[in-house]
Amino acid sequence: MSSMDKETIGEVLVFDTSEEVARAAAKKVVAYAREAIVDHGVFSVALAGGNTPRRVYELLASDPFKGLIEWPKVHLFFGDERCVPPHHQDSNYGMVYTALISKIEIPGVNVHRMVGEGNPEENAAAYERELRSFFGKRSWPRFDLVLLGMGEDGHTASLFTGSEALKEESKWVVATRMRKLEQDRMTLTAPVLNHAAHVVFLVTGQGKAKRLSEVLGHQLKAEPLPSQLIHPIDGTLEWLVDKSAASFL
Ligand code: 6PG
Repeated sequence: MSSMDKETIGEVLVFDTSEEVARAAAKKVVAYAREAIVDHGVFSVALAGGNTPRRVYELLASDPFKGLIEWPKVHLFFGDERCVPPHHQDSNYGMVYTALISKIEIPGVNVHRMVGEGNPEENAAAYERELRSFFGKRSWPRFDLVLLGMGEDGHTASLFTGSEALKEESKWVVATRMRKLEQDRMTLTAPVLNHAAHVVFLVTGQGKAKRLSEVLGHQLKAEPLPSQLIHPIDGTLEWLVDKSAASFL
């Protein structure tokens, strides 16, 4: 593993399989939910999209995890969203609804969907207003937990290398574009992610191995990869990875 210190890259936990990563992540969600609810009566979590976290959400919707969380005190948010309707196959909300939301007793007002249909800029501004209404008057929201994935190009949420979104220093939510797929997106900005109490990355599979070693390793380029920009200012950073993704560490 790189010589970068723990504070720089956070804690890297390597598991044999992706199922073990998902199970460990579900346990962390339970632990951080309990911590937050004991501390301030509510648990706010920004969920990752994509494929990797699906299994985490399925586990949280099943025994024993389901009964370990006080769902009425949980508020589910999204780290990013594809600009598609909720029932579209690419919708992160749709994936989380199927895997988790449809299977738990959580009040509808506690599920904060990023509206994917319509004007991305307007929807991003609307989501920011919703966040500001929930988190109150503060310069940055403090999520109790942010779950993140990492793309093979080193992106996270919908923060892509070379995008204007990466440079955002005041907005909480912005519209952006995934050039590779020509897809409009909305994403929480890096400062929002970096003000969370806990950030947990979930990275599995051989396809991520080279990039993960770059992100966690010493090869810092002139322009850091988006995933390298995530360092909670006053919070913890954990990488839950499987052996395949860790094969170059
Ligand atoms: C998204 C995610 C994105 C994802 C990575 C990894 O909307 O796609 O927010 O950042 O976490 O692309 O995706 P996989 O888990 O599918 O590899």
